Amino acid sequence: MNAPPQALRFHLNGHEVAVCAAPLARLSQVLREELGLTGTKVGCDAGDCGACTVSIDGRQVCACMTPLGQVAGRKVITVEGLASGGALTPLQAAFHRHGAAQCGICTPGMLIAAQDLLDRNPAPTEPEVLDALGGVLCRCTGYRKIVEAVLDAGGLDGGGGSARAENPPAGQAVGARLAKVDGIPKLTGTEIYGADAAPEDALWLRVSRAPHARARFSLGDLAPLRAKYPGLAAVLTHKDVPGSNVFGIYPSGKDQPVLAPGEVRYRGEAVLALAGDAPTIAAIRDEELPITWQPLAPVVGSEAALAEGATLVQAEKPGNILVRGRVVRGDTEAAFAHAAFTAEGAWQTPFVEHAYIEPEAGWARRDGDRLTVAVTTQTPYMDRDEIAHVLGIEKERVRLIPTACGGGFGGKLDASVQLLVGLAAWTLDRPVRCTFTRPESMAATTKRHPAKMRARAACDRGGKLLAYAFDGTFDTGAYASWGPTVADRVPIHAAGPYAVPNVHNTSVAVHTNGPPAGAFRGFGVPQCALVHEALCDELAAQCDLDPLEFRLRNALRKGDSTATGQVLEASAGLAECLEALKPHWGSARERAEAHNARGGDLRRGAGIGCMWYGCGNTAMSNPSTLRVGLSREGRLTLYSGAAEIGQGASTVMVQICADALGVPAACFEVVMGDTELTADAGKSSASRQTFVSGRAAQLAGNDLRAQILRRTNAGDDAALEIAEGAVILREAGQDRRLDLGNLAPDARGDVLLGEGTFDPPTTPLDADGQGTPYATYGFAARSPRSKSTWHWDGSWCATSSPPTTSAARSIRSRSRARFTAASPRDSASRSWRSTFQA
Ligand code: FES
Ligand code: FES
Repeated sequence: MNAPPQALRFHLNGHEVAVCAAPLARLSQVLREELGLTGTKVGCDAGDCGACTVSIDGRQVCACMTPLGQVAGRKVITVEGLASGGALTPLQAAFHRHGAAQCGICTPGMLIAAQDLLDRNPAPTEPEVLDALGGVLCRCTGYRKIVEAVLDAGGLDGGGGSARAENPPAGQAVGARLAKVDGIPKLTGTEIYGADAAPEDALWLRVSRAPHARARFSLGDLAPLRAKYPGLAAVLTHKDVPGSNVFGIYPSGKDQPVLAPGEVRYRGEAVLALAGDAPTIAAIRDEELPITWQPLAPVVGSEAALAEGATLVQAEKPGNILVRGRVVRGDTEAAFAHAAFTAEGAWQTPFVEHAYIEPEAGWARRDGDRLTVAVTTQTPYMDRDEIAHVLGIEKERVRLIPTACGGGFGGKLDASVQLLVGLAAWTLDRPVRCTFTRPESMAATTKRHPAKMRARAACDRGGKLLAYAFDGTFDTGAYASWGPTVADRVPIHAAGPYAVPNVHNTSVAVHTNGPPAGAFRGFGVPQCALVHEALCDELAAQCDLDPLEFRLRNALRKGDSTATGQVLEASAGLAECLEALKPHWGSARERAEAHNARGGDLRRGAGIGCMWYGCGNTAMSNPSTLRVGLSREGRLTLYSGAAEIGQGASTVMVQICADALGVPAACFEVVMGDTELTADAGKSSASRQTFVSGRAAQLAGNDLRAQILRRTNAGDDAALEIAEGAVILREAGQDRRLDLGNLAPDARGDVLLGEGTFDPPTTPLDADGQGTPYATYGFAARSPRSKSTWHWDGSWCATSSPPTTSAARSIRSRSRARFTAASPRDSASRSWRSTFQA
């Protein structure tokens, strides 16, 4: 039996506090919900991720595994207690300079763990830093910047010594190392993520999910449940959905129920939504729900789904086929027949979970005939439209406010918690919040597509690729999600970043009773990169060519045609990437050969891999609009609808817009993503924001500059200075002044507003997949780094566009226990204006 609440005292961030809570309540829960210190994050609630790391008596500890009773009389420091008087600590400042916080959800725990080390060892070595941070997982950074920042704080150069944040003058922001515009809140614990705030009176929502991969079910009488739990405000079923009960990415292919209407197609599918006070929602067990299940044999795996007479996962999808993709060019069979060398093989890859540290979370509130939803997301406008579709209301009546996003990687492109809290708040006319548990997040949300792939490649005696044939079957699970995008992208990219004159690439997305497979860093392209790189190695060996040299001979260059017949007119940087790798590659091969020559059981190898990726939507319109406003007081605000998910989109947009306008980046404030305040900048996916929204930011800056020049009759070369209430223009030794106080402000207080829209030029693809699917591509190559030791991150990467790397190490292993959840405390929504701080 749980011990009753008691008054417990401890020292928190330098002050004595008293809390009345159960001694077994998790410290993380008490800090967040009772004391309002949401800088301590919860990623797993199970001692695995370290996001909740706090300091107790000077040692790092998982707050989610620490019962409140154990901290009585002890000293607890959270991230909020690191900085004093508004100044960052040297460690926080080092994190800021090095860009060590991306999405930032791990940063509070990382800082506490690092400070624990620095307090005991002010100048640690790299292995000591790695050891001290081993209990805190970061899904975004690849750890390198974090380690460099900690070493820097300890006075050592960890290899990022030149990585100093700059405050560049007008016209020099692009290419400069700016500290992130949203960096400070992530370092001080004041950043608000999906689970960190909600209206005070919000109900909590929990989803009851299918325990079977395929089943029918019937719902019994809910009255006894309601009678037993007076705190249960509602149990929502599919009948409570006022608009469409199906949602999905494509307007013509919506197929996933918000709440299952009597049949489930994967384990973890949403069946009922329970809304009520927090203790009630936590107390109700699934076994108490009056659901009668009739389990059915599931379709497991794409082979079973494609078998003759297979059960249809969705009745209206014959053969369980969602969609096929195809790119055909030249005469592949003739080319294979005359080739000097050929290589072929079969490969398969499994489901992969995104494993962002922040589970899905958010809240919704109805105000009359309007709905506000705040949620962690990669795609505010798609969310807004999907919520309106489900509720059967105009999309303008939904305001979507993205919270900070603690990692997405494609997984937060699909609607999850936002539809459920939106539905509950709308139908109950009460604010509602929800945070998925870690197991729920893993069970319910999309995954990387498992793939079964066969491929063949051929080259001539000189190592020039002549032909490539690929066929891939992608398990898209129970519902479509981004399956059509994967089926489209794969055949375009399957032959790799190489010039191949004859191509026959096909793909198919197949429904099974697995979890829906959706977007995950590359939409299927990484799966086929595994194949083309393996075939390159094999052909290089047959030609007796160095693997790097083989790739260099075949690299797509400016003026070459891709598999879709698109001529690359702008840039194609793979050759430059490979040239940059050459010294590292050569020394890595030599080290491996020298090691192997010494004999023994352990053998080493050195590998090289290349990739390319089309930026933006495939062969369809893909516009972004950004705005930049200037207020009467001289406040410059960038209104960016590009969701910031840790990739630095907000900072990049400021850099580009600043240079276009001709003022320093430090002049800007940023409003990010609120659909009421920003224009639609599309989704943060497909490597599109810097290219597409960045161009829109440039056009917006150009537009505002043109308006200012026009009003002052100044020439194109005039230098701009934003002053209080005015813009000063300098030209040929003369100053002109534009007084902003004389201009009429709009609803936001801006007297001038620049706007830019960019839609990258693409064309639809024909039946053979020929056309221009993307306006531009990114290229990258990777090999072992040139160091005499083999590091844990052991690689060197060259890209023709900024790289994003990720790694997650699970070192922490701690005992698990069950604790009673303390009562959640509601808190108000945050302010959505973030300020640039260099
Ligand atoms: S939330 Fe405590 S270790 Fe993950
Ligand atoms: S910055 Fe570490 S998880 Fe995102």
